[in-house]
Amino acid sequence: MPPVSRVNASKVKRKTPDPRALLTWYDTHRRVLPWRAPFGVTPDPYHVWLSEVMLQQTTVATVGPYFTKFIARWPTLNSLAAAPLEDVLHAWAGLGYYRRARLLHECAKLLHTDHGGVFPQDEAALRALPGFGPYTAAAVRAIAFDKPATVVDGNVERVMARIFALTESLPKAKKALRAAAASLAPEERAGDYAQALMDLGATVCTPRVPKCGLCPWQDCCLAYAQKIQETLPSRAERAAKPVRRTIAFVLFSPKGELLIRRRPPQGLLAEMMEVPSSPWQEGALPSIKAVARHAPYCATWQRCDGLVTHIFTHFKLEIAVVVGRGSGKEKGVWISPTHIDREALPSVMKKIIQHATEGGRPRK
Ligand code: ADE
Ligand code: SF4
Repeated sequence: MPPVSRVNASKVKRKTPDPRALLTWYDTHRRVLPWRAPFGVTPDPYHVWLSEVMLQQTTVATVGPYFTKFIARWPTLNSLAAAPLEDVLHAWAGLGYYRRARLLHECAKLLHTDHGGVFPQDEAALRALPGFGPYTAAAVRAIAFDKPATVVDGNVERVMARIFALTESLPKAKKALRAAAASLAPEERAGDYAQALMDLGATVCTPRVPKCGLCPWQDCCLAYAQKIQETLPSRAERAAKPVRRTIAFVLFSPKGELLIRRRPPQGLLAEMMEVPSSPWQEGALPSIKAVARHAPYCATWQRCDGLVTHIFTHFKLEIAVVVGRGSGKEKGVWISPTHIDREALPSVMKKIIQHATEGGRPRK
């Protein structure tokens, strides 16, 4: 196990971080979160799993209302398994990464048919479930079943890099950070400990200016001792994301409705609803004339001022929005722009519609 011995411990007298100190801190400072069982209450594995999947792509603040909505609509794993995929995707819209929502639904169905609607507790069995990587399996095992597991997310990596003053940069340092986390994980109160580390990272050992004065591990933190906590974890410079560009065609009916359609079953945002657009390609923005064949229908297209931008995992998309008028009889799905929240529309599509309806004024 390499990391802890590689730690920069030469100058500083080392006091081993005590999980109990963190747990005592957690007992008074834990966050109240919609998916978190109150003190002394056994967590519902379904809640734990659902929240962890949602939290993998977005913040605690964003997830709150989505989690509450899901639980109200599908109070049990089996009710989620019985839901049409379309409804699940719809409720997921806005959280992004729709593949996760598909896997979530697939996992619920599989647990229903093959596991009697009950989560397995064993790490290997959890890892075999759809959508379960090392993080989700460890988080569910620890938080739902209170079994020892090494739960490592970005918060935990940051805390470990600081506690052990590991200066190797991410992502190379991941292995060492995981080993450091494993070296501390206690047998007792595994679920509380996993959540305590997350809370410490989110509220005290924060990315920019950690509040070391409030930290239960200050006395054993090697980064604090050397005053280098704000420089950690170091990161390798990321290559800038490539920029793709497209023209999105928003066709309005005389009633002010607009036309959307379903995306193909393969690729990014598969089967989600979309505003038609030209191929998303690197290079200069094409002219409207050059890409008009990608428009849903022939119309006189007018460019709206400005651009919509959206960041995907592997690229940034710049979208010029053009608007045109149709008869309202063209084939597709006509929706009212004031009701876009009722549609399972990805965020990028909502941005395009908002831009077409209120953002940029049509240019001459
Ligand atoms: N981030 C990811 N999972 C979390 C959890 N269970 N509690 C708080 N923050 C989290
Ligand atoms: Fe983080 Fe500061 Fe605590 Fe070290 S002392 S773990 S840097 S909050």
